[in-house]
Amino acid sequence: MSRLKEAMGAVAAEINAALDGYIPRSQDSDGRLFDAMRYSTLAGGKRLRPFLVLQSAALFDVPPDWVMPCAAAIEMIHTYSLVHDDLPAMDNDDLRRGLPTCHKKFDDATAILAGDTLLTLAFELVTAPDGHPDAAVRAELTHQLAAAAGGGGMAGGQMMDLAAEDSTLDLADVTRLQRRKTGALFHFSCTAGAILAKRGGAERAALGRYAEAIGLAFQIADDLLDVEGSEAELGKAVQKDAAAGKATFVDLLGLEGARSRAAQLVDDAVAALEPFGGKADLLSDVARYIVARKN
Ligand code: IPE
Ligand code: IPE
Ligand code: MG
Ligand code: MG
Ligand code: MG
Repeated sequence: MSRLKEAMGAVAAEINAALDGYIPRSQDSDGRLFDAMRYSTLAGGKRLRPFLVLQSAALFDVPPDWVMPCAAAIEMIHTYSLVHDDLPAMDNDDLRRGLPTCHKKFDDATAILAGDTLLTLAFELVTAPDGHPDAAVRAELTHQLAAAAGGGGMAGGQMMDLAAEDSTLDLADVTRLQRRKTGALFHFSCTAGAILAKRGGAERAALGRYAEAIGLAFQIADDLLDVEGSEAELGKAVQKDAAAGKATFVDLLGLEGARSRAAQLVDDAVAALEPFGGKADLLSDVARYIVARKN
């Protein structure tokens, strides 16, 4: 087994246990809400964003107990974004992580509330005093997480993505859109380690450059997989972007152009990690994996 596969497997097991512990159950009339949150969050997924949080923190030897709430929080926000992304009013998808989407398994209203509650629970976790002991660090994490998830980040990027269905975008527009839609949560995940370790300046900036490159590379790979991947491997529908008239990197650059842009971004990402030396080997592996993945 490759060292990355092994490390990602270990993190997935840890993060699954943490998420299971953080998301409550209820026997009351609100039970359906928590069932839906648990269903979508514990359904699997690559757990890439929490992996990046944990690896960026490992660069600075941050104690795992301080990191886990933040790693779980970003996965909750990512899962909420997928639950809402799949709704009939957005991408109208029936399959996610190899299972019926949240609104198919439950209903639209429950899926909306499950998403809302995952987003809110994420903030409860990063602000909780039993996470990082320094309140200023928790405040900075909260501020950055809000910026990444909100209007200037993922949610705003999702709006641009919907608006792009009826307009013509050029490469600069698509890059701007994807930086927000997908890149912002990656940016948070990769810089979280520096925030938790109270490292600013050059180290945080280097992780920011790494994040920028892998975020774009990740979305290019997602767009390529939509064209070339299989539903069985991906656990979600394929061939959706062209049908919806989405502006994607593949649409603008062609398959070959998109592949070579992704390869260039991997090189940029690996180069950004240079100041960390061998300690960042797994982060370099992640950059390569992001474009080579089949799911
Ligand atoms: C899919 O993200 C949504 C995009 C941002 C393109 P992932 O491919 O990381 O989804 P999971 O978490 O593995 O299901
Ligand atoms: C969604 O992008 C990214 C989010 C912010 C949820 P996509 O719509 O391309 O994601 P998939 O392909 O459905 O996973
Ligand atoms: Mg979408
Ligand atoms: Mg979608
Ligand atoms: Mg997609």
